[in-house]
Amino acid sequence: MRAYDLILKKRNGNQLSKEEINFLVINYVNGNIPDYQMAAMNMAIFFKGLDKDETLNLTLAMMESGDTVSLKEIPGIKVDKHSTGGVGDTTTLVLAPLVAAAGVPVAKMSGRGLGHTGGTLDKFESIPGFSTDLTIEEMVEAVTNSGVAVVGQTGNLVPADKKLYALRDVTATVDSLPLIASSIMSKKLASGADALVLDVKTGDGAFLKDLDAAVELAKTMVEIGQGAGRETVAVITDMDQPLGKAIGNALEIEEAILTLKGEGPKDLEELCLFLGSHMLYLAKAVNSQEEGQKVLMELLNDGSGLKKLKELIEVQKGNSKVVDDLSLLPRAINQVSVKSTLRGYIHKIKAESIGVGAMKLGAGRETKESVIDLAVGIILEKKVGDFVEIGEEIAIIHTNDDEGSLKVKEAYDLILESYIIEEAPLGKPKLIKGFVNKNGFRPY
Ligand code: URA
Ligand code: CA
Repeated sequence: MRAYDLILKKRNGNQLSKEEINFLVINYVNGNIPDYQMAAMNMAIFFKGLDKDETLNLTLAMMESGDTVSLKEIPGIKVDKHSTGGVGDTTTLVLAPLVAAAGVPVAKMSGRGLGHTGGTLDKFESIPGFSTDLTIEEMVEAVTNSGVAVVGQTGNLVPADKKLYALRDVTATVDSLPLIASSIMSKKLASGADALVLDVKTGDGAFLKDLDAAVELAKTMVEIGQGAGRETVAVITDMDQPLGKAIGNALEIEEAILTLKGEGPKDLEELCLFLGSHMLYLAKAVNSQEEGQKVLMELLNDGSGLKKLKELIEVQKGNSKVVDDLSLLPRAINQVSVKSTLRGYIHKIKAESIGVGAMKLGAGRETKESVIDLAVGIILEKKVGDFVEIGEEIAIIHTNDDEGSLKVKEAYDLILESYIIEEAPLGKPKLIKGFVNKNGFRPY
């Protein structure tokens, strides 16, 4: 078999066999196929696509390129959740303890933030002492004993994706649907869960801005999951504004704690209950999604979710007193009020620019090597649908720099530009846009 012939075959729009895809992935990872040939293959895939079988086979080949995690020692059906990347997406912080409180084991492998999106590991590490650096054995033990753990990726999971993603990033082939789907799903399958709930974002702050593309991605990922023998569903959700009010690491921990006390932003609570209820359903802990919603609501109201968060923090060596005393979280020195220059209704809050604003303040990484400031970020005081007067506060910048510094000025301007304010009134936007399971797409 020769890489050249496979590139030609795909360029001409023909289907690659399982053996051919395995050949490509194995030999690319071990260095026998050079970057220039794989780059050409990626571009051929970008234009000609991959069918259902090819996409599944690529995902499985990528998954098998490195270590895979086994969660078999943990009793019960393990359900994972994955978001395609939002801004201010605080759901994992709420969901992991809440779902665990319902008796469903959650072994969460998370990543760090890059660019305009934040990372769950960074957020948890803003709790003093909290360690995400557990071995697989330690994670399995923590989940077996207390039902939940949130850890960084350990071992050599999906090296094919690391290499392929870096190549796609510099060859304009990131936004190919089968390549995105196989990249995400290979990592999810390798991390060992039995079932998956995917949160596919659509809108300004998302990878795929339009709804049709998000639905296609969701369908492709659900098909891969089913094909790999893992029950998978996807929820399509709105990213035409950041989720909740807080963007920033310690600020989002505070938001998660408030949400587990029933005092959080309603959009964040709604999404947590919806995603969580599907997790409970896939874990067979409830007989319907509606029942799952009810169970989680009770666990939120009676404080069980919050108690589980405390336990999670203690097991991972953090100071669990933060749950009762938010002042123990890192806090920025200065708060700068952002005031509207327009009068009217908020139609959109460009999530990507808000994310970039938070990054400029130091909450996110410009490059993988950047050092972040866990205390800083942005609180959105007004959201889509709200009315504002000229001079009214729309957001608060939390910063360790002077109010007059360039950083703060840049963030201030980005926030102002992100708020799209118009005269016409607008109702509250719909957060959950649709649902995909093995039977297809159902709009909401
Ligand atoms: N996230 C991933 O992990 N991979 C992609 O290709 C796109 C988003
Ligand atoms: Ca948030």
